[in-house]
Amino acid sequence: GSSGKFFVGGNWKCNGTTASISKLVSDLNDAKMEADVDVVVAPPFVYIDQVKKTLTDRVEISSQNSWVGKGGAFTGEISVEQLKDVGCTWVILGHSERRHVIGEDDQFIGKKAAYALTENLKVIACIGERLEEREAGKTFDVCFQQLKAYADNVPSWDNIVVAYEPVWAIGTGKVATPEQAQEVHVAVRDWLKKNVSVEVASKTRIIYGGSVNGSNCAELAKQEDIDGFLVGGASLKGPEFATIVNSVT
Ligand code: G3P
Repeated sequence: GSSGKFFVGGNWKCNGTTASISKLVSDLNDAKMEADVDVVVAPPFVYIDQVKKTLTDRVEISSQNSWVGKGGAFTGEISVEQLKDVGCTWVILGHSERRHVIGEDDQFIGKKAAYALTENLKVIACIGERLEEREAGKTFDVCFQQLKAYADNVPSWDNIVVAYEPVWAIGTGKVATPEQAQEVHVAVRDWLKKNVSVEVASKTRIIYGGSVNGSNCAELAKQEDIDGFLVGGASLKGPEFATIVNSVT
């Protein structure tokens, strides 16, 4: 496992209203969270300001995307500078929904990661294979190629958390087994060791995402190389998200 703190992120995706987010924030403010865990939530852009103003400082705020460079004439985009201005300290990049629904490619994602890190926004760098790739025995190839695009672009790995999210497990209720997740996490750490450095491999947190919930988190958290979670659906429920935050103990 990594030498860093356990890390749990809640990716709210394109969900919520002013009212539902106000309830979720108040549930998070009331929740007991273990001190030794980094906790981050990623609201939709338009609610970041509301969350920043109402959520306890115990929880950091991430965006779900960022523009690849400085702001300007880029209709519909949000810049890293703007995200920092409203209180974000993290950004999720390379999420499978951005890769496979929106069509972002490895290089574009690598460049976004580089820009965010250069501007001091920390990055949750997602990777993960699709079902047909797993069935074709290409899981490692796909993950390594995605990792390489980050490695080729980023100035440093100091502020990166790698999120392994097998696409077939996202939003499907079909969680990877602890063994399946552990196998890929070990491979990722090994890739970092060979291609970046021994130090980066040992300190980079590798978190798992894909149908994590309050009932399956404890078994997953026991795996040596699972250093935390990126949670979608279950992060929309404050008490269940807190259970996942506390799963490491
Ligand atoms: O980024 C988190 C994610 O993609 C997992 O979603 O709903 O399967 O927990 P979910």
